[in-house]
Amino acid sequence: MLIRRRPRWHLPESAATPESVYFSRRQALGAGVGLAAGLAGLGALLTGTDPAGAQAAGDPAGDPTRDLYPAPRNPAFTLDHPVTPEDISANYNNFYEFGSDQMNYSVARIAAKMPRRPWVVKIDGLVEQPREVGIDDIIRAMKLEERLYRHRCVEAWSMAVPWTGFPLKDLVAYAKPLSGAKYVRFETFVNPKVAPGQNRFVYPWPYVDGVTMAEATNDLAFMVTGVYGKPAPNQFGAPLRLALPWKYGFKSVKSIVRISFVAERPVGLWEQVQGREYGFWANVNPAVPHPRWSQASERDIGTGERRPTVIYNGYAEEVAGLYKDLKGESLFM
Ligand code: MTE
Repeated sequence: MLIRRRPRWHLPESAATPESVYFSRRQALGAGVGLAAGLAGLGALLTGTDPAGAQAAGDPAGDPTRDLYPAPRNPAFTLDHPVTPEDISANYNNFYEFGSDQMNYSVARIAAKMPRRPWVVKIDGLVEQPREVGIDDIIRAMKLEERLYRHRCVEAWSMAVPWTGFPLKDLVAYAKPLSGAKYVRFETFVNPKVAPGQNRFVYPWPYVDGVTMAEATNDLAFMVTGVYGKPAPNQFGAPLRLALPWKYGFKSVKSIVRISFVAERPVGLWEQVQGREYGFWANVNPAVPHPRWSQASERDIGTGERRPTVIYNGYAEEVAGLYKDLKGESLFM
């Protein structure tokens, strides 16, 4: 049901997320993905001219931490397939604060208007000393490195991204949690003036999600500040986002303003919207289908290639041990 006389990739927000079905995350996403799935050769489409000027607008050239890039690549984190070209990944983003028109450059274009500074991150909850810290102080207190990570969305698309950032466990150490802290909860900003999606009150803003302390201190859990060797453009979740490459992408909260150490398991935004479809663990598993998307295979948005999905998105060696004693939990939903 593409709109006639529009470019083939055009997908208005109303089509991507019909208001009548917005309570269901899977329906909302499915409308967009159903259309996406019908688009052969997405890479070829998106590498053409950028009609909305999204990339230019999102250029983080003035970022105060620009001197820290490019950071050295950590050779422990490599890929067996090519990195997704930036002009594709930077224009195919899920960031509902800026709309759900994932394929029409508009997320990047609208997100580019979000001010990057001042940006203060509140660190609170069960910590020795709750505090509010400017993002530049956090970034400069950390040792930045580049890692090549697989990135897998529950919508069954994937990409390969050269993130720059620092291990989440370093931030945990910086925060000095108390022994009662069992989970880390991440929260995105609220500013409907720059984030028009936040005027859609059907979503329980702010975007939140969380991980256990064991997950947070696993080597793979990464705080992203940059991508493609420079500070991250806004649509990627600047100035600070999570990357949890063994989990579906919705766990990787973008544009974080609050990090809380808590005793209770946080309930993420999508879990609040549709708890039967979006659980807390959300680890990638090809054998456990989402109610609307088989997870058996995935489409690489860079190459257009479809390939089999791998348990824990290929990171079983690093993370499977985290879950071995967890019985009766829906680890893959
Ligand atoms: N974080 C916020 N704040 N808002 C969002 O809508 N979308 C999530 C996640 N983090 C989202 C978010 C989803 S569904 C995915 S798949 C990834 O971001 C997409 O990250 P990318 O656009 O960098 O590929």
